[in-house]
Amino acid sequence: MGKDVIVACDFASKEDVFKFLDLFTDEKPFVKIGMELFYAAGPEIVREIKKRGHKIFLDLKLHDIPNTVKKSMAVLSKLDVDMTNLHASGTIDMMKAALEGLTRPDGSRPILIAVTQLTSTSEERMKNDLLIDAPIDEVVMHYAKNASVAGLDGVVCSPLEAEKVHKTCGDNFITVTPGVRFADGDVGDQVRVMTPEQAKKIGSDYIVVGRPITAADDPVAAYKRCVAEFVD
Ligand code: C5P
Repeated sequence: MGKDVIVACDFASKEDVFKFLDLFTDEKPFVKIGMELFYAAGPEIVREIKKRGHKIFLDLKLHDIPNTVKKSMAVLSKLDVDMTNLHASGTIDMMKAALEGLTRPDGSRPILIAVTQLTSTSEERMKNDLLIDAPIDEVVMHYAKNASVAGLDGVVCSPLEAEKVHKTCGDNFITVTPGVRFADGDVGDQVRVMTPEQAKKIGSDYIVVGRPITAADDPVAAYKRCVAEFVD
């Protein structure tokens, strides 16, 4: 599995994202487009960024009845994204339907990964709000296993969970890990963080890095540093 750094382009408008991407002249980073930018700029933003030669992780975290997810995934597949995701809590049937929708007539499809439990969901909230009594790490591994059973390629998880996910679901099951910070950088609102170098050591397949690159004085240098620490 090719290790890569995915830059979280959490911008509110097309102008802001292009101003950022224009800084990159030699490199073509793999970019993550989230709900904010997608809802503000529409599907056209995906086509335009793709046209510039970037790979795209479309982070829309689908969760609906299997038929709706299947049809929506077919639309995303036509947008030619390279990676997309859904909530594993939508059930194994929903995940299987998503894969069907995502698969193009020639058999190719974008990488499909699952969100297990959001990092904003604490064990206490899971228990009180969702009536899930099992320990959160058990729930995360169970959802990862479900994703694997459904045929998905991997999960989004904390870098701290990546090792266990690989042990549970196999080395080829992809771990995409946000919560990455440079050793000398600001942690911001992320709680459990790892450096790109540590993420590489514990076996993350992709790291998702936002503000350490987008808010850096020199974003291109910060991106190159991430690649040097994580990939090279
Ligand atoms: O700026 P920062 O590096 O914290 O950005 C991390 C990106 O990864 C953001 O787009 C955030 O929404 C996403 N993410 C996360 N934690 C998760 C899932 C996604 O930080 N558990």
